[in-house]
Amino acid sequence: MSVLSSLYPWVKALHIVSVIAWMAGLLYLPRLFVYHADARIASDASETFKLMERRLLRGIMNPAMIATYLFGILLATTPGVVDWAMGWIYIKLAAVAALTLVHHRLALWRKEFAADANRRPARFYRIVNEIPTLLLLLIVAMVVVKPF
Ligand code: HEM
Repeated sequence: MSVLSSLYPWVKALHIVSVIAWMAGLLYLPRLFVYHADARIASDASETFKLMERRLLRGIMNPAMIATYLFGILLATTPGVVDWAMGWIYIKLAAVAALTLVHHRLALWRKEFAADANRRPARFYRIVNEIPTLLLLLIVAMVVVKPF
């Protein structure tokens, strides 16, 4: 049995913990943007949101995304875990790519907020907030149900 095979349940546990931390940020950062979009520029609230957004992205979301990828790739390369002839893994990987795109968009918008240069209304971020939820539903359905 390979080292990866014997570590499989531990790697999976760490993968799930990383996913939870990443998702927490992907759901909370656009929520902060919803409130930040309505805060007056240079107000105490606006400056506090900037700090919260920077810490959330740098302290939680970036490391959690890297850890999710790292443990996910280890799982995918563990012998016998993924049957590459099945379709679910490709849908999952496409949804992960979409989540990564959302992450990078959010990082871009955070920079705009930090420069007091946001031009989008709160409603826009409310809608963006739904995207990670839908992708999460799709990913969990694929990895747990493996329907095809
Ligand atoms: C590079 C990115 C990723 C790769 C390569 C990857 C790959 C994998 C693999 C190979 C497994 C094991 C499946 C099994 O045991 O049958 C797994 C489990 C899992 N993955 Fe990922 N994953 C990635 C990202 C994500 C993301 C972004 C999420 C959620 C948002 C996620 C959620 C899960 C969950 C919940 C499980 C546990 C399923 C179970 O209990 O069998 N993964 N992942």
